[in-house]
Amino acid sequence: MTAQKGATGRDGLAMLGGCRAVPRELRIAAWPAVTEQDEEAVRRVLASGRFTSASSGEREIPALESDWARQVGTRHCVAVGNGTAAISLALGALGVEPGDEVIVPALSFIATAAAPLHLLAVPVFVDIDPRTFNMVPAAVEAAITPRTKAIVVVHLHGLPAEMDEIGAIAARHGIAVVEDAAQAHGAEYRGRQAGSMGAINTFSLNVSKNLATCGEGGLITTDDPELATRATMLRQFGELIPDRGERSYVSHMLGWNNKPGAVQAAFTRSQLERFPQEAKQRDENVRQLLARIAELPGFLPPQVPEDRTHAWHILRFRVDAAAFGLADRLAGPLRAAVQRALRAEGVPAAPYQLMPLPAQRVFRERRGLGGHPWALPGVPERPYREADFPVTLRVIDDSFTIQKAHLHPGAGPLLDRYADAFAKVWEHRDTIAQYAASLPYTPPWEQAAKTAEAEWARAFGPTEPQASAGSAESSEGKCR
Ligand SMILES: Cc1ncc(COP(=O)(O)O)c(C=O)c1O
Repeated sequence: MTAQKGATGRDGLAMLGGCRAVPRELRIAAWPAVTEQDEEAVRRVLASGRFTSASSGEREIPALESDWARQVGTRHCVAVGNGTAAISLALGALGVEPGDEVIVPALSFIATAAAPLHLLAVPVFVDIDPRTFNMVPAAVEAAITPRTKAIVVVHLHGLPAEMDEIGAIAARHGIAVVEDAAQAHGAEYRGRQAGSMGAINTFSLNVSKNLATCGEGGLITTDDPELATRATMLRQFGELIPDRGERSYVSHMLGWNNKPGAVQAAFTRSQLERFPQEAKQRDENVRQLLARIAELPGFLPPQVPEDRTHAWHILRFRVDAAAFGLADRLAGPLRAAVQRALRAEGVPAAPYQLMPLPAQRVFRERRGLGGHPWALPGVPERPYREADFPVTLRVIDDSFTIQKAHLHPGAGPLLDRYADAFAKVWEHRDTIAQYAASLPYTPPWEQAAKTAEAEWARAFGPTEPQASAGSAESSEGKCR
């Protein structure tokens, strides 16, 4: 590659041997931060001898449930084992059954689309908006069929989706809305909290999340007492467990074992006390970073419409090929070049999702339960093709993210250096552009397909596993 004048030497790009914009001593603070108060909360549970929601007299879990219901503004909250189970249980409480369709966004974490599958419901994907990265209301409406039972709306990266528009569409068609607010603790939409707007809504408390636990956890929120009772039954074998007195051990319906742990509840309650101040500080830190990046025409920082707030769980930046003097078709290689340059400078720029969810093998090759739900009688043939989600593909190709490094409220100075790194990369844009234009490039989803093949072969040998019944897409999937 030919370096721009001044691109090499001490002040040059770190990937060409220059000094890093982010000094090595400036480390990413561990998340979640663990204080003495958190440790004390955990010790309290250990001393109590009551470890799960099934332990008679356990108080931390109900206390977390009422704290979180108050925070979100719903009448009820049900704690569960993790955020994925929270979605399955919410859908189960709504009465989603095998063969029903559940609309989900094409860009999200796999859990959003795996959760319907756990109930043998068919995930139906819709494309996203290129500015908010959330599902497009018109695409949701176009995906509705007589089999649609629910819409799982994800507030991706912490920015609330178009809830009023989606809510109106759902109401018109008599379909329930479930908010998957796993990434959006505390975010607001038109004055309402994420997780208070759907019929029943879910959060994750996974260690990676803005409100975390020490391990795995999830929360379900709803105003509907019957849905809350059903979700509570589903988390424990379909039983109705009384607050006091004897447990009957009667399974009224099929349920799972997705009980929450008391240690995790106590830890999160302790974190919750600091949550509002930490979220405020994070908002300030991130806004400062984004204000500096907004001055660099080559980067498109996340947008926040005026009627909502962002929880800043993940920061996604798109690159502008034209600003770098490149043709639009080089946006992917440019993103790869920028990502590499930023990483060398010390910014943990990384992808979030290498492919649209429908391109995941589990869907495209129909690796459900014995080919179900797709093989169920009456379920229409529905190919999962990544090409049907052009905006998701484009966003995956031309953007990268920063995850976790910005979550700690003390991350301000680090983020300032990250802004320096972005500025430095922009300063050396001609070198970056030349590098991008010469880069051998495979789009992330094609690269991921190759990795998947190799990974499978390492685990199970070179023979390709048998694709499930009815998989019109399976061989095509291998070639992409
Ligand atoms: C959008 C989204 N939904 C659901 C989940 C699942 O949560 P958990 O990891 O707690 O099962 C996650 C977790 O990463 C997520 O980001």
